[in-house]
Amino acid sequence: MRTVDLIQKKRDGKALTTDEIEFLIRGYSTGEIPDYQMSAWAMAVFFNGMTAKETADLTLAMARSGDQADLSPIEGIKVDKHSTGGVGDTTTLILAPLVAAAGVPVAKMSGRGLGHTGGTIDKLESIAGYRVELSKEDFLRQVQQIGVSVISQSGNITPADKKLYGLRDVTATVESIPLIASSIMSKKIASGTDAIVLDVKTGGGAFMKSLDESIKLAQAMVEIGGQVGRETVAVITDMEEPLGLAVGNALEVREAIDTLRGEGPADLTELCLVLGAHMVRLGGKAATYEEARSITEELLRSGAALDKLKEWWQAQGGNPEMADHPELLPTAEYQVPVAAVDDGVVSAIDAEALGVTAMMLGAGRAKKDDDIDLSVGILLRKKVGDRVTAGETIAELHMNSNEPMFTEDMTQRTREVFTFAAGEMPKAPLIYAVVT
Ligand code: URA
Ligand code: CA
Repeated sequence: MRTVDLIQKKRDGKALTTDEIEFLIRGYSTGEIPDYQMSAWAMAVFFNGMTAKETADLTLAMARSGDQADLSPIEGIKVDKHSTGGVGDTTTLILAPLVAAAGVPVAKMSGRGLGHTGGTIDKLESIAGYRVELSKEDFLRQVQQIGVSVISQSGNITPADKKLYGLRDVTATVESIPLIASSIMSKKIASGTDAIVLDVKTGGGAFMKSLDESIKLAQAMVEIGGQVGRETVAVITDMEEPLGLAVGNALEVREAIDTLRGEGPADLTELCLVLGAHMVRLGGKAATYEEARSITEELLRSGAALDKLKEWWQAQGGNPEMADHPELLPTAEYQVPVAAVDDGVVSAIDAEALGVTAMMLGAGRAKKDDDIDLSVGILLRKKVGDRVTAGETIAELHMNSNEPMFTEDMTQRTREVFTFAAGEMPKAPLIYAVVT
C-alpha cells in the first residue's frame, strides 16, 4: 500500500477500506507517514467527507492506537458522558453521583482544564484530601463497591488522535464533521464505556455555531456509536450563555452541591436531569426516557444523589463534610461586584470570553503546567432574559488580589462578556434536539 494512492483515492471522492484507514493511522502513529501526507489526506477528507463506515473505521483505529481501559470487571452497563462545551460546565460533578445513585456504574476518567475551558479533575482538587489518582485496581474496586469513581486520565489514550488533532489545528482541517466525530468518539471508546451520552453545545459559545451543523455532528457520533456497538444518545443544548452561574473550580463544586440539594440554577439542574435520565435508560435501569426522568428527579428530591456524592468523596479520600459545609471549600479573599453601566435586557453572555477572564483571575491555565488558584472565579448574577438597571450587579469576581489596575481590568472584561438588548429577550430553549 502506498500513502500517495490513498490520498489520491480520497481526493477523488472515493471511500477508503478498513485496511487502508488502519494503514494510515498506524503509519502516522509510528512516524512512517509524515505530517505533509497526513495533512493532504485530512484536507481531502475536509472537502469530500467520509462515509459512515470510514468514520467508524477511523474511530476504531484511533481508539486502538494506545491504551484502552478494561472496565469488564465492573458489573452492569457502564455509561459515560461527554460535553463538547466546557466553560463552567459543572455537570460531571452532579451526574456522577446522580446516576450512580440510580445503580448505573460510573467509572470515569476526566482531564484538567486548559485555556478557557475548565477540567473536572481541577474542580475535584478543591475537596480536601480527594485523590485524583488511584491505581487501576483501587479504581475498579471503588466502582464495584460504591458505584462511582472519577479519576485523572492517565496513560497513553488515543495517541493517534492527539497527533492528528494537533496537525488539523495547524492545517485548517479541524472543522470537518467526520474528523471531529471520530476524534471525540475514539477517546470515549478507549475509555472502556459501554454506552455514551453526548452533550453537543450549539450557539455563540460553542464549537458548532449553527443548529444544523450541531445536529450533523451529533448524528455522525450517534452513527459511529451504532457501528461500533456502543449505544450513543446526543442531546443538543444551548450555549448562548454559560451553564449555571459559577465559573471557577471551588465555586463550581459549590454550585454542584447546591444543585444536588435542589437549590441550584434552573438550567444546570434541568440539564443534569435530562442527561442523567438518558444515562439511566442506557444503563438499563429504566425502559423509557420518561421512566428514567422520574428516577433522576426522585434521586435529586430525596437527597439520595447528595448522599452518594458524600460516599464517593469519602471513598476517594475527600472530606465529605465539605458537602454539608461548602464554606470549608477554598474561598477567595475579595468579592468584587461588577455593575451594569446601562439599563437593558441581557441578550447573550459570551462563555468563551468569560472562561478567558476566569483563567486570567487564576482559575485556569494559559499553558499546560501553569499553577491554578482553586478559590477564584466569577459568579454570574444575571442571565439571558434578565432585565437590569444601570448600577445593578451583574456578576461577582472572586479574587485573591485587590490590586486596583488588575481589578479594574477584570471588572471591565467581565462587563464586556454581557450583551444587552433594548426590548424583550425571549430565552432560547435549553435543549434543541435529541439524536438517538
Ligand atoms: N474535540 C475533539 O476532541 N476533537 C476534535 O476534533 C474537535 C473537538
Ligand atoms: Ca457553572
